[in-house]
Amino acid sequence: MSAIDYAEKIPNNVNLVGDRTLQRALEHWQPHFLQWWHEMGPSDFEGAQVYLRTAISVDAQGWAHYGAIRMPDYRWGIFLADPVADRKIGFGEAMGEAAWQQVPGEYRSTLRRLIVTQGDTEPASVEQQRRLGHTCPSLYDLRNLFQINVEEGRHLWAMVYLLHAYFGRDGREEAEQLLARHSGDADKPRILTTFNEPISDWLSLYCFTYFTDRDGKYQLKSLAESAFDPLSRTCRFMLTEEAHHMFVGETGISRVVKRSLEVMNELGSDDPARIRAAGAVDLPLLQKYLNFWCSSSLDLFGSEISSNSAANFANGLKARPDEDQYPDHVLKEASLTLQTPQGAETVPMLNALNEVMRESYLKDCEIGVKRWNRSIERAGSQFRLSLPSSRFRRSIGAWARQPVNPQGNLIDQSLYEKSLPGWIPSESDKAFVHSLMHQVIEPGRMAGWIAPPERGINNLPLEHEYVKLH
Ligand SMILES: [Fe+2]
Ligand SMILES: [Fe+2]
Repeated sequence: MSAIDYAEKIPNNVNLVGDRTLQRALEHWQPHFLQWWHEMGPSDFEGAQVYLRTAISVDAQGWAHYGAIRMPDYRWGIFLADPVADRKIGFGEAMGEAAWQQVPGEYRSTLRRLIVTQGDTEPASVEQQRRLGHTCPSLYDLRNLFQINVEEGRHLWAMVYLLHAYFGRDGREEAEQLLARHSGDADKPRILTTFNEPISDWLSLYCFTYFTDRDGKYQLKSLAESAFDPLSRTCRFMLTEEAHHMFVGETGISRVVKRSLEVMNELGSDDPARIRAAGAVDLPLLQKYLNFWCSSSLDLFGSEISSNSAANFANGLKARPDEDQYPDHVLKEASLTLQTPQGAETVPMLNALNEVMRESYLKDCEIGVKRWNRSIERAGSQFRLSLPSSRFRRSIGAWARQPVNPQGNLIDQSLYEKSLPGWIPSESDKAFVHSLMHQVIEPGRMAGWIAPPERGINNLPLEHEYVKLH
């Protein structure tokens, strides 16, 4: 286990003092990062004391230290998971050879692109969420939002470290660009569409952390297998932090469901209009939010059939998540049959890896849905939540712009257009959700549309003042 050196200007466990050039380059980037946080981070909360978790070592147990600090004082730094002695490449054509400690020249631009694309999502989500503090449903939730925000900031550091340490001048330029693009900016948007969608309400935040952070988990898992060892170690440590983001999503939606069921019980009715009038989110409305964010996040995996994914796998850059679980790590002979609007198509497995990844992602997404449905069933309601088909509302791949219903069936184009506002949040749905969003900052209190969580943070009571605003 390696401890993190907090005495340094940039906390790290990569012996930054031993590399003066790199240290100076990163110290030059640091004020730019802090300026970005000041301008694009959580607005108007710089003075607040937040009960935050900070990494102090990188082993699985006990790496977190809790304390109330101002967010601009958070110790963002560079933390890599401990090296695996004699690590070998676990897949692709170079399988069995020693993992790379440097970037091979022939893969330099592809690796840089993978790192920049991952890195771009981290500050993007902070930007998307920057105004949510003004409508938090409780101090507990406000603290969780800020915890996610500072960790996404650190994930940016993780990627910037790789760019500075291994990609020379190009890497340094890319690191500047990561602060220059902004979510939703007309001229310089973030790279991926989902990260330009505004997140202006907390229902969207819970869906985003459930679906989109989980895409992040799967991307990080596949990069954690990379032959490029510094990337693997960086991603492995990021995954430990990422788990909390999905926890916020899953429990957030659970609490919305719980509150909805309570109101249904009080009213003795499941009429959406009456539930909304009572200030709660009706389950059909929640289903529309799930449809929107799930379909939007599915596009992040790319096309079903992709020569890039084949090359990345064959070259050892990016594997399947949990590559160990598969029997064949070379995939020279394997094939997969995919359903396209034109019928079944059999393609080499190597070209279908985005789809393999998407399917394991969807299985992971199902776990929470089952849990939510169990609580709905226990409450005696017939309603069931579900994930939309992976063909629904896609913008990338074989099913892009096809008139498909959430069950995955091709339907008439005009019927599709007429039905879509009933499947994803309409303008009036969004207006209703926004009308629920009022800041609740009295310790222990919750907004009326969400149930309290089962427990507080780090064994503290729910009434703890997780954010001291003044
Ligand atoms: Fe992240
Ligand atoms: Fe995240």
